Amino acid sequence: MTDDPWTAVDTYFEEKLLLSDPVLEEALRASRAAGLPSIQVSPSQGKLLHLLAKAQGARTILELGTLAGYSTIWLGRALPKDGRLLTLEVDPKHAEVARANVARAGLESKVEVLLGPALETLPKLLSEHRDSFDFVFLDADKPNTRAYFDWAVRLSRPGSLIVVDNVVRKGELANTASDDPNVRGMRAFLEALASDRRVSATGIQTVGTKGYDGFVLARVLDAPEE
Ligand code: SAH
Ligand code: DHB
Ligand code: MG
Repeated sequence: MTDDPWTAVDTYFEEKLLLSDPVLEEALRASRAAGLPSIQVSPSQGKLLHLLAKAQGARTILELGTLAGYSTIWLGRALPKDGRLLTLEVDPKHAEVARANVARAGLESKVEVLLGPALETLPKLLSEHRDSFDFVFLDADKPNTRAYFDWAVRLSRPGSLIVVDNVVRKGELANTASDDPNVRGMRAFLEALASDRRVSATGIQTVGTKGYDGFVLARVLDAPEE
C-alpha cells in the first residue's frame, strides 16, 4: 500500500461504513467514461452532505456545480418523497452525464439539472424560490464563490444551512501572496463572510482521498445580529 494515510483511512471508512453502492459506483464509472474530471466529493464527504441535509430535515436543496451528479445523488437521497433539488451546471456534457446518473439513481422526479452559468440562472430563481432552500451546496467555479454565497443566502431562509466546498486548497487560503484566482476567490469570500450579519459560520479543514482541503459551514440567522 503506497497510499498516504488519509487516503488509506478514507478507503477504510468507505469499506467499513459501506459508503458506496452500485448506483454510486456506476455514476463514477459513467463520469470517467465520458472523460469528466474526477473532482467529485469523496464517499465520506458525500455521506456528510447527506447526513447534514437529513439532520436539517431539508425538503428543498440547491446545488451549484453538478459535474456528473455524484454529490447530487448523495443529497437527493436525503430528500423526503416530495423533496426537490435544483442543481446548476454550465457544461452541457456534464449536465447530460448527470441527468443519466440521476435517472439511474431513481431521483428523476426530485432532481432538476439547470443548464447555464450559475450567475445567469440564480437571478431567474429569485422570483419562484426566494426564501425557499433549506440546504445549499456551493461547489461550482471558485472565483465566484462570494457572489454565489450572497445568492445562497437570498434564496434560503432563517435556519438554512450552506456548505461551501474547496475553501482551504492545501492551505493556500492563508497565503496572502497567492495569485491563484481560486484562492483569491475564496479569500474574497471569507472577507465578506467575516462581516456578513445574516449568517453564523465556521471553517473546517479536511484530509482524505482529495488531499488537504476544507469547507465552510454557515447557518442563516433568524434575524441579523447586533
Ligand atoms: N458537486 C460535484 C462536483 C462539481 S465540480 C460533486 O461533488 O460531485 C464543479 C462543477 O462546476 C463542474 O462540473 C463545472 O462545469 C461547474 N461549473 C463551473 N463553472 C460554473 C458556472 N459558472 N456555473 C455553473 N456551473 C459551473
Ligand atoms: C476542483 C473542484 C472541486 O469542486 C473539487 O472538489 C476539487 C477540485 C478543481 O476545480 O480542481
Ligand atoms: Mg468540490
